[in-house]
Amino acid sequence: MPAQSHRSDPRILGWRTLEQDHRCLAELLRPGFSVLDVGCGTGAITAGIARAVEPEGHVVGVDRDEVLLDMARTEHAEIENLQFERGDATALNFRERFDIVTSARALQWIAEPGLVIENMKHAAKRGGMVVVLDYNHTQNQWDPEPPPEFKVCYDAFLAWRQGNGWDNEMADHLPGLFRSAGLVSVSSRAQDEVVKRGEPEFAWQSYLWSGTLQHVAKQLIAAGFCTEAQLEKALEKYNSWAKTSLARQTLAMRATIGIVP
Ligand SMILES: C[S@@+](CC[C@H](N)C(=O)[O-])C[C@H]1O[C@@H](n2cnc3c(N)ncnc32)[C@H](O)[C@@H]1O
Repeated sequence: MPAQSHRSDPRILGWRTLEQDHRCLAELLRPGFSVLDVGCGTGAITAGIARAVEPEGHVVGVDRDEVLLDMARTEHAEIENLQFERGDATALNFRERFDIVTSARALQWIAEPGLVIENMKHAAKRGGMVVVLDYNHTQNQWDPEPPPEFKVCYDAFLAWRQGNGWDNEMADHLPGLFRSAGLVSVSSRAQDEVVKRGEPEFAWQSYLWSGTLQHVAKQLIAAGFCTEAQLEKALEKYNSWAKTSLARQTLAMRATIGIVP
């Protein structure tokens, strides 16, 4: 992987499903569709896509991370209409091949999202759809407010991302990028990830920020955005607050859809 890169936590990726975590796409899929999933990670959502379009439909998952792709291939080996390929979203070579080209939570990690949208458009057939789901990390909300020690490291995380050219408000910039790429009938809808205490997803969704901070800890510290002591304190406070106090977490997301003219 490139130096200024980031590997997503495979545990978190593996807990996701098409129906829960890419709802807008789930509604658009039909049996027989061909679909490209860009930034597919461990393929949890991609496998759901393959099941939704079988038996005639076919799905390709692309990711630049060979380690995550190996997990995807092992985990979903039994799904016949599903294939995983290594590829960089900024250099896709597919031309007019898919009914739907989608990406979830990947453009937030790419410094040239406009180029990726153009590549996704070229990969879709005329009249086909591009469907992208992503975060606005500046709009996330917790009830009650998380401990200040966590907020210090969360702000450091956002500053580190921004320093790497990764858009913290990716979700809100997608419609403009779609139009610039020449996609038409562009629409965008909120698709927040909301979880409340007592719900089945609460355990892993409330772990998400603790897991994410641990996962990027070395990079945040090495780049000088926070100290090891600050991170340790943030995790300790966050974990105990998530266990006893957190009632509701809302991660701000939008799904944007465009048609290839
Ligand atoms: C947060 S994960 C999302 C995985 C999955 N789509 C999901 O929603 O759970 C982001 C994925 O994008 C991949 N990714 C990041 N930059 C990429 C690029 N330039 N080309 C291809 N994949 C990329 C990462 O390797 C990672 O698997």
